[in-house]
Amino acid sequence: MGKRLVVLASGHGSNAQALFDRDDLGGDVAAVVADVAEARVLHRAEAAGIEALCVDRHAYGDRSEWEAALVEAVAHRTPDLVILAGFMRILSGAFVRRWPTLNVHPSLLPSFPGAHAVEDALAHGVKLTGVTVHFVVEEVDAGPIVMQEAVGVEPDDTPETLHNRLKAVEHRLLPAAVGLFCADRLDVVGRNVRIKP
Ligand code: GRF
Repeated sequence: MGKRLVVLASGHGSNAQALFDRDDLGGDVAAVVADVAEARVLHRAEAAGIEALCVDRHAYGDRSEWEAALVEAVAHRTPDLVILAGFMRILSGAFVRRWPTLNVHPSLLPSFPGAHAVEDALAHGVKLTGVTVHFVVEEVDAGPIVMQEAVGVEPDDTPETLHNRLKAVEHRLLPAAVGLFCADRLDVVGRNVRIKP
């Protein structure tokens, strides 16, 4: 049976779109949940015929109240896997222990964790950066790595030009990792993720 997927996203939603566009993931996106009411990803989900809802961070004073509402919304959709596709909030340990959760990040972790990975890589002057898909643990951008692919930095790159090339890779890597999860081919052994044949 296909897996049930819930996507969490905050913005543009191009990675979510890359998942909507595939019919060979071995799973279906049951819902998209945003934390920002204006997130374009909500329109993309509606256009794809996928349930779209917002658990607006600004509607809750307390972070834990907001997360409780998010947990309730996600639990109601009974996911086998939660996918963070440009979700700009940190989730508690309780959340990430409850569901297997994948994240896509625009650097070769453990280099350049955090919300400014593309700018940080450029500022550091690296010649090579890339994309990481990893399981989410409580510590930010630190979970077991499923897939990585390198992307070269060009001398005249701006954050925008580099991020565009990184996103093109993200749009391949995230669906590939989700497909492996849906096929039960990911074995997490400590920090190592083995891809079963
Ligand atoms: C991506 O670069 C992702 O790696 C990062 O946020 C960006 C989201 O882009 N976490 P989009 O909303 O999927 O277009």
